[in-house]
Amino acid sequence: MSFFNQAIMIGDLHIKNRVFLAPLAGVSDIPFRRICQELGAGLTYVEMLSATAISYNNKRTFEMMARHKTESVLGVQVTGPIASQVAHAVTVLDGQGFNTIDINMGCPVRKVVGAGCGSAILKDPERITETVLSSRASTKRPLSAKYRLGYTRENVNVENTTERVINANVDMFTVHGRTRSESYSTPCDLNGIKSAMSVGQNLSQKVVKVGNGDVFCYSSADKMQKETGCDAVMVSRGALGNPWIFSEILAGTSLSPTFEEWFDVVMRHISYQEEHYGKTKLSAILARKHLLWYTKGFPSSKGVRDLLNRVEDLTQAREILKDYALRTPKDFIRFTGFSQEITSDYDPKYEMDRNLDRGVGDEGMDA
Ligand SMILES: Cc1cc2nc3c(=O)[nH]c(=O)nc-3n(C[C@H](O)[C@H](O)[C@H](O)COP(=O)(O)O)c2cc1C
Repeated sequence: MSFFNQAIMIGDLHIKNRVFLAPLAGVSDIPFRRICQELGAGLTYVEMLSATAISYNNKRTFEMMARHKTESVLGVQVTGPIASQVAHAVTVLDGQGFNTIDINMGCPVRKVVGAGCGSAILKDPERITETVLSSRASTKRPLSAKYRLGYTRENVNVENTTERVINANVDMFTVHGRTRSESYSTPCDLNGIKSAMSVGQNLSQKVVKVGNGDVFCYSSADKMQKETGCDAVMVSRGALGNPWIFSEILAGTSLSPTFEEWFDVVMRHISYQEEHYGKTKLSAILARKHLLWYTKGFPSSKGVRDLLNRVEDLTQAREILKDYALRTPKDFIRFTGFSQEITSDYDPKYEMDRNLDRGVGDEGMDA
């Protein structure tokens, strides 16, 4: 059994395994979460929400809190510019019944940071303490924080941040092994994560320590665990178009879906998309990025990808994929002979539409 296939407690919350899906703005909606949960993700999160938007009772932000009836365990993440506003949002999210609440201290997006949210807090360590302490006082549910190594390489302060969040009583912390100023072309720094995990180990027996960054397969998850001493991994880009990553990490060996398994999951994702967003043009537009990610790593897929990138309804998407399936050998294993895998320097922003920032920077946080 793989290390990751062991249950873990976050505070009093039982989590069935140690492979989590990160909150992903514009991506971790109900349809995608359901697919990741079915393929093994032990914990999943709603996309990052804005505390400012919550304080304005923003309708869209409240809609994003929706939970599917099959989601027995679900986390949520929030970010805000002032401690009291985050604490208020935590009270609201607690009231909505989320099983665990995370405070985002790592988002690098310019408009988010410009509004004092996300990784802006890493420049103001006192605010880290105030934010976590006041959030802690607002909920008895498991509370966590997710952050980067520091704001810049010259200002790495991950050990101090870790000390602060643990002293303010978080149940879990997640470290992404890059600084705010580093892009995906800088490889995740496992030594930086390790230094945070050591602080965690020394300060608390029960805090859950999570590593994040460049987990794209079982071997990178295993390397993250062995080299940093983390208790669990959080998968981000590695799950885009590849939700099988959860089964692979849990199996503890390299695994690829058969063509039939692949096809079945893509069709299911489309059905969940229709169930959640309806049979609308918007539903198809929101699905496009997933369809493009799913069709990476196949022979002669440029034509099919061009078509999927323009679909205006999901019935059309099904037809395109069925037609493509007829032309693809049933025993084809994805990525064999193709190097379009999502790897280290892949930045989805280049391919994604403006929906990437949905719910993050556009609700009262643009200024
Ligand atoms: C499309 C996208 C959306 C993201 N949204 C969030 C978010 O809402 N909250 C968060 O903490 N991190 C977010 N992240 C950052 C990831 O969770 C993660 O920290 C980062 O991508 C590093 O992990 P990776 O190298 O495995 O992708 C996002 C990343 C991507 C690619």
